[in-house]
Amino acid sequence: MAADGFAIGGDLRVGRLGFGAMHLPTAAGSARDGAIAVVRRAVELGVTLIDTAYLYGGGANEELLAEALHPYPPGLLITTKVGVARSAATGEWRLDGRPEVLREQVERGLVRLRTERHALLQLHRVDPGVPLAWLLARSPVILPIPGTSRIAHLEENVAARHLRLTPEQRARLDAPAT
Ligand SMILES: NC(=O)c1ccc[n+]([C@@H]2O[C@H](COP(=O)([O-])OP(=O)(O)OC[C@H]3O[C@@H](n4cnc5c(N)ncnc54)[C@H](OP(=O)(O)O)[C@@H]3O)[C@@H](O)[C@H]2O)c1
Repeated sequence: MAADGFAIGGDLRVGRLGFGAMHLPTAAGSARDGAIAVVRRAVELGVTLIDTAYLYGGGANEELLAEALHPYPPGLLITTKVGVARSAATGEWRLDGRPEVLREQVERGLVRLRTERHALLQLHRVDPGVPLAWLLARSPVILPIPGTSRIAHLEENVAARHLRLTPEQRARLDAPAT
């Protein structure tokens, strides 16, 4: 476990830098092989949280992570998201927070990720049409999950864990966001 981590919800220990899997290519071929190499390298570099979602390829992204990493090493947290579904009528993705949809995505996600439980499950977006919903309090802890399909970019991103910004550098980076 990285010394610079924290505990999500008080008990899920993670390092400060995660990995976003959203854009990894999943279609069979050399691009998929490269994606598998990237996520394996991320774990080798000490990444302890990987972010995926049912939305990312309708489950294909979850399957890719399982193919790359299962059986999962101790301390690795793969977090997935539910609550966006494809309309059978139009094929469009839309928010869908109905209980039966969430349950199906959760259960199928367990199969795709080859696991018995989701240690951390997220609601992708609040569906305003379902009153199932809750408000998330803003957290004082932030865990970036930069995504990349290139090992060189991955190594550069993970190295950010050790970067300590001066107050002047932070002020310059904060300025565009305020
Ligand atoms: N953005 C969203 O709407 C969204 C929504 C929900 C969840 N997420 C989660 O958050 C993660 C991060 O999302 P994101 O929107 O920030 O990024 P992202 O969609 O994962 O894409 C990151 C982009 O930055 C490039 N990149 C990464 N590292 C780089 C580096 N060191 N130098 C130059 N370019 C670099 C990548 O290109 P290369 O592949 O060429 O490196 C890629 O084009 C996602 O993967 C997903 O898991 C995102």
